[in-house]
Amino acid sequence: MSTANRADNGAPGGWTIEALTDRRDIDAVLSIEEASFTSPWTKEMYLAEFENHGISFFYLAKSAGGEIVGFCSFWRVLDELHINNLAVMPAHRRAGVATALLSGVLGDGARLGAKRATLEVRHSNVAAQRLYERFGFTVAGVRRKYYTKPVEDALVLWKEGLP
Ligand SMILES: CC(C)(COP(=O)(O)OP(=O)(O)OC[C@H]1O[C@@H](n2cnc3c(N)ncnc32)[C@H](O)[C@@H]1OP(=O)(O)O)[C@@H](O)C(=O)NCCC(=O)NCCS
Repeated sequence: MSTANRADNGAPGGWTIEALTDRRDIDAVLSIEEASFTSPWTKEMYLAEFENHGISFFYLAKSAGGEIVGFCSFWRVLDELHINNLAVMPAHRRAGVATALLSGVLGDGARLGAKRATLEVRHSNVAAQRLYERFGFTVAGVRRKYYTKPVEDALVLWKEGLP
């Protein structure tokens, strides 16, 4: 568990980053998911992930008042982190939440033994691409027509040398 604040990583807000351990928090994750993606994962998908101990992880960002304002889900596969989803409540965007989350995930992922991290991002998702660039992710390839609603290519990003 890590606490991000302006003093230790430059992210404003004093967000607390912690692993999801209570399945009741999955409803808050779903709300953020539905507000953020055109093809959101379902509750069944999240519950299945939650049961996949040791491989599938969820991290939450909470406000000082305890509200869940963002989440990141990832798999640790051998020495790789596969970031599946990262999203922040629209009302809390551009306030350092994703920066705090990603810092926590990459740091804890490295402690779990990961040496590199990868993810896919929509070609048009400039906001997320700027965020990942700041963390040292670079484009390694393109998956044609990877996304639906709308159909769009995915950029495949990798970051070597965690954290
Ligand atoms: C992408 C997303 C997770 C960013 O979350 P956030 O908490 O707003 O990000 P941060 O406040 O930590 O921003 C960090 C940096 O990312 C970049 N960034 C974030 N949002 C941006 C935007 N709308 N436009 C351009 N750059 C942006 C900036 O460089 C920003 O730093 P700055 O605010 O000092 O300029 C959020 O916009 C989101 O949930 N989008 C919908 C879901 C999504 O696309 N997830 C990623 C899937 S791969």
